Amino acid sequence: MTEIPVSLAEAGAFHFHPTDDPLWRIEEVGFNLAREHEIESLFAVSNGYVGSRASLAEGSALSNPATFIAGVFDTNTAAQGDPVPELAAAPDWMQLSLLTSGREFRLEEGNFVWHRRMIDMYHGILWREFDYRTEAGGLIHVRACRLASLADRHVLFQSIQLDAENRFPDIHLRALTAPVVERPGRVRLTPEPCPPSEDGDSASLLELCTHTTQIKVAVASAGRLRIGGEAVPPRIDPSPDRRVESWELDIEAGKPYRFDRLVVIYTSREVDRPSAMAAEHLRSLLNAEPNNVIAAHARAWEKRWRESDVEIAGDAALQRAVRFAGYHLIGAVNPADERVSIGARALTGEAYKGHVFWDTEIFMLPFYVLTDPPSARALLMFRYHSLSAAREKARRLGYQGALYAWESTNTGEEMTPGYSLSPDGEIKPILNGVLEHHISADVAYAVWQYWQATADETFLLDAGAEILFETARFWASRGLLDEDGSYHIREVIGPDEYHEGVDDNAFTNVMAQWNLECAAEAARMLIERWPDRWSGLAHRLDLREDEADRWHDLARRMYTGLDTRTGLLEHFKGYFELDDINLSEYGSHALPIDMILGRERTQLSNVVKQADVVMLIYLLWDRFSPEVREINFRYYEPRTAHGSSLSPSIHAAVAARLGDLETGTRYFHQASQIDLANNMGNAAGGVHAAALGGLWQAAVLGFGGLRLGADGLSFTPHCPPAWKALRFRLVWRGTHLHVDIQPEIVEIAAESGMGVAIRMGDAVPAWLGSGQRMCWKLVAGHWKEVSS
Ligand code: BGC
Repeated sequence: MTEIPVSLAEAGAFHFHPTDDPLWRIEEVGFNLAREHEIESLFAVSNGYVGSRASLAEGSALSNPATFIAGVFDTNTAAQGDPVPELAAAPDWMQLSLLTSGREFRLEEGNFVWHRRMIDMYHGILWREFDYRTEAGGLIHVRACRLASLADRHVLFQSIQLDAENRFPDIHLRALTAPVVERPGRVRLTPEPCPPSEDGDSASLLELCTHTTQIKVAVASAGRLRIGGEAVPPRIDPSPDRRVESWELDIEAGKPYRFDRLVVIYTSREVDRPSAMAAEHLRSLLNAEPNNVIAAHARAWEKRWRESDVEIAGDAALQRAVRFAGYHLIGAVNPADERVSIGARALTGEAYKGHVFWDTEIFMLPFYVLTDPPSARALLMFRYHSLSAAREKARRLGYQGALYAWESTNTGEEMTPGYSLSPDGEIKPILNGVLEHHISADVAYAVWQYWQATADETFLLDAGAEILFETARFWASRGLLDEDGSYHIREVIGPDEYHEGVDDNAFTNVMAQWNLECAAEAARMLIERWPDRWSGLAHRLDLREDEADRWHDLARRMYTGLDTRTGLLEHFKGYFELDDINLSEYGSHALPIDMILGRERTQLSNVVKQADVVMLIYLLWDRFSPEVREINFRYYEPRTAHGSSLSPSIHAAVAARLGDLETGTRYFHQASQIDLANNMGNAAGGVHAAALGGLWQAAVLGFGGLRLGADGLSFTPHCPPAWKALRFRLVWRGTHLHVDIQPEIVEIAAESGMGVAIRMGDAVPAWLGSGQRMCWKLVAGHWKEVSS
């Protein structure tokens, strides 16, 4: 490995300090080895291009360091079960060992005086601080920070500062950037012989390659140590597959010792010459003061929060939890890459292999649509680029139009494994990739939501309309018109995955109905407003006006399962005849209910895995009468086991909209603890990105009661008295709004843009112009506009 010349800039201690506002910090004090895997997920740093788990730099017995690069998938063909591509773990770039008199510092040996890790959510930085007592009894104070730059997404940065109380001879500092160690069940990037490097300059680079997808990845890194401002060159051990820099030191009391490491990553996914790009980019950064990297990153975070913060006044734990959600959602997305989407655990862990589900469109997307439209657009463009794979899947299963993959990587092809192997070797088929079809309607729903919120005509005409038409086509081919004159969709899996192969799942049918109607409406709109674009698209897709009429007709005939006598929507055909299980009898079990009852018994029971009819009511709120919403929530809520992290937030949102603040806040608390208290027991595999998106929605669309319409926004807010105030920001068709909801008073300010029509509760809609502020008061149960 050859060296990139390092020109050391002015040295200095951290000029940057973490926020001291406790409401912007998540802290972990002390050290508990058993919690290490979940801390690694929770405290991960990510910018949507690259994400790194918060593993200890010096490692521990349980450390599981992993850095994931969006879109870099590979398949472990030797894996047990049905191998599918998964995010490949990139080299561990943050290893740093500290040896005093030959003895390595390890937290689990207990020789620290105190230890604290903290995410400064406001600036998107992971901090760590501790005092370490050496064998000889001296004290070293260590302060470190780490980030994945939001200002320059190819850049990772780490900085460590040591101060000693007394002099220490014989200190050895060793910084290593190397491929992660092999672990069962993980695909890692290895320095495989890639096709030869294109620029002949292998500099301080690790060049790696995926096996099956042949993606080249270049990791350029350089560490530098400065003592009281003076640069100290490292000893570099030559090695083709790792970069090892080390320093032998005599530490003197009172002098700051600062180690900075800059890492730059490029892949052949985005550039032709990743190695040259990484080397060049790193070189340019090495000429600058590293504090600038921190400052630019912190500014980028501040800017994102200005557009997306949610304040819950009066409840510090919930306040931190919604910011924690924002922290991971902001870090999960890259608006510059429309060829990837966000996996179920974003870039923070291995669970679900980095695969993309409906989680993105239904749970996370509203956050982006309303706070960062360019990111929402990129995510939807991913689905646009996946259309050919979705058409192919529909065709393969005997349908028309586009059926999106239940699990995707970056190709859009179906990546759900066909089966799993139980520990005793039993093969269990996984049917979701074949039967969970509601995802096509979910994507269409997200397209329409984005269109409503942004009026982005270019997107609609270039991509969105085609998604709406092709998904509608799928639904028009998926069902059957029966003798009863109704359109039925048989043999599906709905969001409630405990019941497989069911007929007329209310969620699937009504979302499909909505998709058909929406596509018909979009066709009408195109014909009227953009006739040329309609002709072009209709010609390319071989679409005739009467096809849209048929969508309309099928939507009208869709079997919905609504019993007009009782107001209940039957979850699926035959659901009401299933065994009635009283979930409260199983309340104290930590295990998921399907594991307690067993798969077969669960299928014969009426236990629902996660919000399904309740989800439908939430998404299509205005389609149902207040009675139907209430009756169904009361019926399904006690029968739902919340076997998925996606469920509590939606229950919180629906209960809040119904004005049941006690149930709403109970579920909101539950949703807020999924990662922070690891209450599903699996945060080790990464944060639950959909649950975090759901938490944001429960606050803004649930308690805030926000709904998007064709002509503007409507609110039916319910602020729990204990919260004192719920405040949030959003952008609607270019107008930036600040919403301040208190239990009996609401104030909305339009800070820029063209203005927006707002309907508060059942008050008459009012126009809020740019620079204006409006105020409403709750009087005898009704919102009344008052002068602000
Ligand atoms: C849930 C799905 C979800 C997936 C990934 C499953 O347990 O049932 O709805 O898409 O996890 O989060």
